[in-house]
Amino acid sequence: MTLQTLCNMPQLAHVRQFLFLAIIAVSGSFNSVAVAADAVNGGILFNGPKGRCIACHTQSSRANRTAEQINSAIANVSSMNSLSTLTQANINDIVAYLGPAQPPAVVTPQTGWWWNPSEGGRGFTIEKQGNNIFMADYLYEPAGRATWHASGPSATNGSTFTSTLTTYLGGQTLTGSFHSTTGTINSGDISVTFTDVSHGTISWPGGIVAIQRFDIVPGGASAIPPAGTPEAGWWWNPAEGGRGFSIEIQNGTMFLAGYMYDQSGNPVWYASGPKAMLDTTTYQGQWQQYGNGQTLTGLYKPASVINQNAGNVKIKFNTTTTGTLTLPDGRDISIERFRF
Ligand code: HEC
Repeated sequence: MTLQTLCNMPQLAHVRQFLFLAIIAVSGSFNSVAVAADAVNGGILFNGPKGRCIACHTQSSRANRTAEQINSAIANVSSMNSLSTLTQANINDIVAYLGPAQPPAVVTPQTGWWWNPSEGGRGFTIEKQGNNIFMADYLYEPAGRATWHASGPSATNGSTFTSTLTTYLGGQTLTGSFHSTTGTINSGDISVTFTDVSHGTISWPGGIVAIQRFDIVPGGASAIPPAGTPEAGWWWNPAEGGRGFSIEIQNGTMFLAGYMYDQSGNPVWYASGPKAMLDTTTYQGQWQQYGNGQTLTGLYKPASVINQNAGNVKIKFNTTTTGTLTLPDGRDISIERFRF
């Protein structure tokens, strides 16, 4: 007996009714699959006259919204009240169309020297490796002494780096033998958002500061260095942690800084250059000590050179990532790129 003949038998009316209900139940559950949120229809609603969301919002500006958020906006935002004619299925379709929030755009800032051109005397070494940034600022204490903070290595989220300003204390001096740092101070929070590879905005205890790449020579930051140029960024002697060097060469001209400590254990930095290299692998110059410039939270004031020659410096690069640095006392230390 087929289902057809069974159903046609009048004495089996109750069986027919059972089958009819069973079919409704099955098709009902199929229906609920069929009415699952439909992103295509959501797009028609969002952009078309029935929803007309596009009149006031872009898709990306409303991404990652829930049906509850849209319902509450329709109920509470007077210019959206007329949208109360949309059904819950319509709203679910719109939610499907809007989709999850887009991950933030990833910006990889160029490695090297950064500054605010209207606030010279203060600057930044910024480098991103993988997803982490390690950066330092160089500026001044209220009493005028040059000082610096390090931040990271910390993870970036898209185009934003968030970390703390760490003041390191008690490490190695320019000519002294190696000893480790003795402590740190948390000097506040820092967040840097990069709008492109050569521009960003710092938010820190000093307020909001626009920064950009520093041209050591005109157009130098955006020029592609010739093959064989020693890498820009962080360098160190792994046997002498706590002291680091920031090196960048643009078109044969080097700007170098050493982040270290004075005799009393205060953080201090020295700079050398910008100065043309002797040849493609050799730099020779003097360390300058700066003072009296802008503090972390103070208004801009120009810095001055307080010691034109704090000692000689020479770097002989063996490769693009290794070299020998001669300290003012004539001691040679090997330096290499700092891989964090
Ligand atoms: C006539 C202009 C107008 C239209 C059309 C409109 N909105 Fe709005 N919407 C607003 C205003 C104004 C606000 C409140 C300010 C804001 O958040 O931008 C708002 C707020 C919202 C909010 C809450 C705030 C937020 O950011 O989550 C959501 C969600 C929203 N709208 C979604 C929609 C959707 C979906 C549609 C289409 C179905 C739509 N809107 C149509 C004007 C409009």
